[in-house]
Amino acid sequence: MQATKSMPREKETAREMAHILVVDDERSICELLEITFRKEGHRVEVANTVDAAKRKLDSQIFDIVISDVRMPGADGLELLKYVKEVSPNCFFLLITGVPTVDTAIAAINAGADRYVIKDHDLVDQLRRAVNGVSENLKWKKEAGYLRRELRRLTGLDNILGQSPRMRSIFELIQTVAPQSSRVLITGESGTGKELVARAIHENSSRAQAPFITINCGAFPESLLESELFGYMKGAFTGANENRQGLFQAAHGGTLFMDEIGNMSLTMQVKLYRVLQEGKVRPIGSTEEIDVDVRVIAATNKDFEKEIAEGRFREDLYYRLSVIPIQLPPLRERREDIPLLARHFLERFRKSMEKGIAGISPEALKRLEAYDWPGNVRELENTVERAIALESGPEISLGSLPDRIAGYAGPSSVAATNGHGFAIPEEGVDFEKEIAEAERRYIAAALEKSDGVRTRASELLHITYRSFRHYAKKHNL
Ligand SMILES: Nc1ncnc2c1ncn2[C@@H]1O[C@H](COP(=O)(O)OP(=O)(O)OP(=O)(O)O)[C@@H](O)[C@H]1O
Ligand SMILES: [Mg+2]
Repeated sequence: MQATKSMPREKETAREMAHILVVDDERSICELLEITFRKEGHRVEVANTVDAAKRKLDSQIFDIVISDVRMPGADGLELLKYVKEVSPNCFFLLITGVPTVDTAIAAINAGADRYVIKDHDLVDQLRRAVNGVSENLKWKKEAGYLRRELRRLTGLDNILGQSPRMRSIFELIQTVAPQSSRVLITGESGTGKELVARAIHENSSRAQAPFITINCGAFPESLLESELFGYMKGAFTGANENRQGLFQAAHGGTLFMDEIGNMSLTMQVKLYRVLQEGKVRPIGSTEEIDVDVRVIAATNKDFEKEIAEGRFREDLYYRLSVIPIQLPPLRERREDIPLLARHFLERFRKSMEKGIAGISPEALKRLEAYDWPGNVRELENTVERAIALESGPEISLGSLPDRIAGYAGPSSVAATNGHGFAIPEEGVDFEKEIAEAERRYIAAALEKSDGVRTRASELLHITYRSFRHYAKKHNL
């Protein structure tokens, strides 16, 4: 009782209670796990055979199944296949008293999330795994709730945010989407401008018509003109056929003009006329064609400055920005970071088929503290990279890039005191720092040698034997 009471409250509230099914023919194991996880507040059911387990799976939804491999009759691997069929989101932990390489490989191939050996720390290992899953469950449920709310609000479920600023943007999207007014989206790179443009299109009456994107910054002036307005055969060298422009292709729908701030002044005049008149004239044609297109423009430039310095026409700016939407940088809405990080974790975890259940509290803290100059895109890339590198059950500090983890390696610490290391007021955990440096060197050498271990050991000037020792120590 004492032990339960002194558990840190914070950890407890961060978890969602899980519904767990324990399957083992050894009743003592079932009992032990049942008591352990009930004490932690989870709902636990037990089954002593695979058949009994299947019956339970048919009538109830479980978050986690913990199953023995060898049982009389059908075995744990067969149960795993069944679970993947009836309840694919359920987390599956296999435990075994007789570990063999074959079973381990079969387990991973069949989609088991963890494979745990029955030894003295079985309970601790399972407890860690279950805690990881249940923390993730809470996030899943919250993200699920927010997603439903957002779908109600915007009709979209891939654009997330719970900060007040993002919420008011969602409201704005909902209000302006149905009308055909032009929208100008501004915001730093990676803040979600394109995502918002799509959301607007998909929530408008134009949703069935095309949504076409053009990156105005990617084309030289003459090419941009032919892309946008089209051309007639023979209008210029290389114009071998009549070609429709994007304005015509987007007829009835939406044209998303990205990086509009990079458009030349001449093109700006031409675009202004099209917006004014609702007609385009393909290059080389004498005829104007009516087009009904909603234009949504975006830029990461500061328009006031561009206009003041004569690089952007004020009249065009007013035409485009009937509804201005300014997306805040991620560092100004840090409360969205955990939500987005979990969202990307879910996405990449699935596509990379990795059993990573969450993000460690320290890693999450660093993600929340970092400034994200590349905004949501940088966060997305960071999570993807971390999942690829991570060998443990959750994203840890070690799989974050140094700039985010805040780890200054031995050679990168600025030499301020002649020793090359600055020790902060609160001191440092020497053993941990050294171990971390070891891990990084081993990982870096492996990367440089394309995984060839003998070469990696040479790079570090150590024997192959010690290399193996360190690699094993750090699970690499
Ligand atoms: N609120 C959000 N919820 C979920 N994913 C998001 C969100 N905002 C951005 N993203 C993701 O981040 C990435 C960058 O978003 P997007 O391409 O829309 O940014 P952008 O502002 O157009 O960037 P750039 O200026 O560099 O073109 C995309 O993969 C997008 O799906
Ligand atoms: Mg973009």
